[in-house]
Amino acid sequence: MRVAMIGTGYVGLVSGACFSNFGHHVVCVDKDAEKIERLKKGDIPIFEPGLNRLVADNAASGRLSFSTDLTSAVPDAEAVFIAVGTPSRRGDGFADLSYVYDAASEIADSLKSYTVVITKSTVPVGTSNKVEQIIRQRQPGAEFDVASNPEFLREGSAIEDFQRPDRIVVGADTDRARNVLRALYRPLFLNDKTPFVFTSRESSELIKYASNAFLAMKITFINEMADLCEKSGADIQDVSRGIGLDGRIGSKFLNAGPGYGGSCFPKDTLALVRLAEEYGAPSRLIESVVDVNDNRKKRMAEKIISAFGGVKGKTVAVLGVTFKPNTDDMRDSPSLDIIPALQAAGAIIRAFDPEGMVEAGKMLQGVVWAKNTFEAVSKADGVVILTEWNEFRALDFTLLKSLLKRALLVDLRNIYNPRDMVEAGFEYHSVGRSSVKP
Ligand code: UGA
Repeated sequence: MRVAMIGTGYVGLVSGACFSNFGHHVVCVDKDAEKIERLKKGDIPIFEPGLNRLVADNAASGRLSFSTDLTSAVPDAEAVFIAVGTPSRRGDGFADLSYVYDAASEIADSLKSYTVVITKSTVPVGTSNKVEQIIRQRQPGAEFDVASNPEFLREGSAIEDFQRPDRIVVGADTDRARNVLRALYRPLFLNDKTPFVFTSRESSELIKYASNAFLAMKITFINEMADLCEKSGADIQDVSRGIGLDGRIGSKFLNAGPGYGGSCFPKDTLALVRLAEEYGAPSRLIESVVDVNDNRKKRMAEKIISAFGGVKGKTVAVLGVTFKPNTDDMRDSPSLDIIPALQAAGAIIRAFDPEGMVEAGKMLQGVVWAKNTFEAVSKADGVVILTEWNEFRALDFTLLKSLLKRALLVDLRNIYNPRDMVEAGFEYHSVGRSSVKP
């Protein structure tokens, strides 16, 4: 099948590469000429494990190509995906759909024979209808259907998530469109019997927002329970395990931490709040989730300052600045709230992140970037773990202790065991558990 993927951001690039790996012929299109030039040379603009290889292999086989020219990619394609950004609109938090509508107009002008135009971008309920209207107005004779097919991949495990999804959601009104989507995902259906959820376009669009909002709510719930644990002497790790084993609740996304970040949850929860308001069905629950999470990120700096007994003139070693491990993405990372607040309180920040320092350098001022963990901690007054990269999970504490001025660890991802830390001679502060001293 011939596919055009409009937009080469996270979702577009990963989906395009994965569809070509399924055997389809995919042209990934983007207006950003520099990015397309880089991609043609095999230079991948984001850090995502396995993506380099996947792109190189499929480009070499001739199934995957890159272009700035939508008008040459669309006429031959049986399926055209819109995978452009839907950022928060300045001022009101509603999803900005201008890139989606621009893409729809351009696609309309290039349609030749029957094509399914598929919105993969995260879009509010009603957007696919609007896309259909735009195309029909611009080219009344065009033979096409519009479908919704949201993407549920996570950064850092995007390829695995695309190739082994929990479900494929398709919102479409005609059998013809549904069959094109079935054919696109055929390998998944044949190999894994991945469940397909066929719905209306409206339901499909809402499934995406509702999924992200539910997960954000789950994280926020466990974060609030962590606060209660700290005050009451309970242990959040035990509470998470104890509730997660109830099959109705499930154990995933119950890790307490500094608050959710990233390119999706903050933007999508806010957009859902606005969408619900607009439809006259406000979501008090998600409004609170947004509010609680925003405050939490700010409060984490106070937790660190109190653990250090004040940070004025002290060097704080920060390990991890990206919003999660295995990505270089800094968007809405808790570190963007925490580090400036520590600096405002007088701290000198020496930080290390395995992949995120180039991006972080553009967003954080006055940070001393270290080449590795040990350079970051050397003569520091304590260490803070902000992101749970694997390489921070097995630190050599004897060496660490010898390099630090004070054996103090604030672990906002709960990757260590308090008892082990006491044995290693560290004062240890974590989330939702009592602090311990040797
Ligand atoms: C999220 C969803 O998980 C994907 O299904 C979805 O496709 C994607 O958004 C999107 O809409 O594009 P992602 O933002 O890559 O994926 O990252 P997650 O793994 O979901 O983590 C989001 C945030 O929640 C991170 O800051 C992470 O540290 C935090 N988190 C996650 C917790 O604090 N605790 C947890 O138990 C899980």
